[in-house]
Amino acid sequence: MISIREIDPADLALFDEWYDAHRAGAVAGREAPLVGAREALGFSLRNPGPLKQRIPVGAFEDDRVLGTMLFEYRLTDNLDSVEVEIDVPPAHRRRGIGTALWQWAVTRSAQLGRTIVQTEVAVPADPAPGAVFADRLGFQLEHVEEHLVVPLPYDDLRLEELRSTAGRPDGYRLTSWAGLCPPEHQQAYADLHTAMDLDVPTGGMTREVVPWTVEKLEASEVRIDRTHLALVTMAHTEAGEPAGYSLIYLSRGDVENAQQDDTLVLREHRGHNLGTHLKLANLEQLAKHRTTQRYLHTWTALTNAPMRKVNARFGFRAVEQHRELELRLPSLRPAARGVIVDPDDRILLVRFEFDDGPLWATPGGGLEAGETVVEGLRRELVEEVGLRDFADPPHLWHEEAVAEGHATGYDGVLNDYFLIRTDQFEPAGSMTAEELRAENVHELRWWTLAELADHGGRFAPRNLPDLLRQALASGPPTTPLGL
Ligand SMILES: CC(C)(COP(=O)(O)OP(=O)(O)OC[C@H]1O[C@@H](n2cnc3c(N)ncnc32)[C@H](O)[C@@H]1OP(=O)(O)O)[C@@H](O)C(=O)NCCC(=O)NCCS
Repeated sequence: MISIREIDPADLALFDEWYDAHRAGAVAGREAPLVGAREALGFSLRNPGPLKQRIPVGAFEDDRVLGTMLFEYRLTDNLDSVEVEIDVPPAHRRRGIGTALWQWAVTRSAQLGRTIVQTEVAVPADPAPGAVFADRLGFQLEHVEEHLVVPLPYDDLRLEELRSTAGRPDGYRLTSWAGLCPPEHQQAYADLHTAMDLDVPTGGMTREVVPWTVEKLEASEVRIDRTHLALVTMAHTEAGEPAGYSLIYLSRGDVENAQQDDTLVLREHRGHNLGTHLKLANLEQLAKHRTTQRYLHTWTALTNAPMRKVNARFGFRAVEQHRELELRLPSLRPAARGVIVDPDDRILLVRFEFDDGPLWATPGGGLEAGETVVEGLRRELVEEVGLRDFADPPHLWHEEAVAEGHATGYDGVLNDYFLIRTDQFEPAGSMTAEELRAENVHELRWWTLAELADHGGRFAPRNLPDLLRQALASGPPTTPLGL
């Protein structure tokens, strides 16, 4: 059976195993993948910054990690969105592990009240598993970039030729540095970052741009500097006005790859070959600081014709597409529910009363912020039926149901159901009858399978009698059944 859990990145042995699976899933089938280095990712996860929460999640079978997810969300802006990256090594694909990780992401997003999920997929050639998988989940393609590489060390002859045809950057001064931005350039460099965020094409991806300040730049650079050496060239006009910049990262933990990150020329300075001059000057820095890196990677929007032209001149070759996708989830109220079954296969159900009549459902209830689904289940079952002290239960079903009227303020409900085998007991939770009534719970009783089958009224989940019969006959599924 597969179980999905957050991993503790401070547990170094577990993090290593998780990272190996993450990497194996991410690089499979790709000619020139660029995956965050072990040290860089480990550092970032163990030392969370103030702007972003990053959660490493594993799919476990008998304590072995078979699949991974990075679940991330920003803490001060873009408060409706989360980002997910799911990676399953080829040996474990098509067993539902990716789907189980995805279900975890949907539940956590609902807990956070976030309804926009964003992801990126590398596509060396169609059909790529990640693209098919995301399409099946309902993601929409919003933006496409080309991922390009050029071999290192950079060809001196080509550099010489580019330099001589580019001529001089008349009217501009170029300044280069490695590492942190010198204090006298910080304000201009922060403003250029804001311009970059506003200008960079991202298609239909939802994105709130927050202006950069010197403080934010400093904090971000100090953080990045722990794991990457930044090589920057900035262009100023003769009058000292900033005109553009280009940025390369040398990851301190990746001996193979260097990354050509942002290159920006402000609109009013375009058409002077400044992009080429910036890249040339920064490649000189790269020649000085490069150690063993064999590839320089970059990404350019398919729609960005000028930058594609510059890239081609520099000898970059496209190796794959980088697709950005987005999915809008309904706003669902997340709940954990116990399928509590006694040795005679009787199940404990609660009766809710709605305007449209009674509904028999499994005990449990809404998740609170910050608790895991199983923690929520334990809390709810103590309150509602007085059941405690059960081993971590198998996850049976994951239900997403858009339905009016069953969860005020939401589009519907999201239920994760767990199988709990127990002796029969007289349900008596810590909540009083009045408190239960306030939660719309009117009755609790045990049902035999035959009673379920004969009942003409409604259950939640709707086909509970069949689902339960199936689960009891064949045992819990390896990964939760999606309802
Ligand atoms: C995409 C990925 C995570 C899927 O993991 P997985 O564990 O194989 O996923 P599942 O078994 O849950 O597959 C769910 C469904 O996706 C579709 N799917 C997944 N891989 C597919 C493939 N190679 N070809 C066709 N359909 C595929 C199928 O509909 C599948 O259901 P089925 O097996 O019942 O037909 C895995 O292939 C991977 O790690 N790829 C590289 C990284 C990536 O692109 N991630 C996606 C971005 S988040």
